[in-house]
Amino acid sequence: MSGIRSAPVDPSVIAVCRARLSGHPVEGFLLGGGTYPAQVMFVGEAPGATEIQEGRPFSGQAGEELDGYLQRLGLTRDEVYITSVIRSRPYKEKPLTRASGETVISRSNRTPTKTEILAHAPILDEEIRWVQPQIIVPMGNTALHRLIGSHETITSLHGKLIEGPVQQAADPAMPDKGYIFSREIYQIFPLFHPAAILYNRKLTDIVMSDLDHLSQILRRNS
Ligand code: URA
Repeated sequence: MSGIRSAPVDPSVIAVCRARLSGHPVEGFLLGGGTYPAQVMFVGEAPGATEIQEGRPFSGQAGEELDGYLQRLGLTRDEVYITSVIRSRPYKEKPLTRASGETVISRSNRTPTKTEILAHAPILDEEIRWVQPQIIVPMGNTALHRLIGSHETITSLHGKLIEGPVQQAADPAMPDKGYIFSREIYQIFPLFHPAAILYNRKLTDIVMSDLDHLSQILRRNS
């Protein structure tokens, strides 16, 4: 895993973004990782329990699927950059009664809210500036909507190359200002989130064919 590093996002930006989520049910913090600049940048949803524990993006079950994506593309983690729209783990709590009769509170992952995603938007914006990706690969609806707005879905856009600006925080210091579109134009190639395959194995063939399309585009670009 040598050669994997996080983009040097300004610590004061991180502090402001994290402070915005104090009081929200989120835990931990870790930046994305890989190399920068990089030809391809993968954007997921949010770290889960394993990622927060291990301090490495996509180190849980979804990460194993993502490694399969990379293998299909003939790439390794130190040739790309992997991150998410929010860099803390959103969780929900519910009581769980053990076999012993004891009740404990268990935490499960949940989709980040729009407010939480906007609160961390300046971090992803900075990562994009450091990575200067030729192609951004949003994985799943959360990443797709964060980057291009919510007028389309991953089901309609997966495996298709789009060219256009991406959303960024209008004013990094003021989350209530929402998003504006970047001046830069990117190639955007949406894919199903690797966790989607875990729940629906029938997606595997579709994702593999999308990856073959992406591979052709990368070869053409390089
Ligand atoms: N899912 C994501 O979207 N990001 C991670 O880092 C892990 C799982």
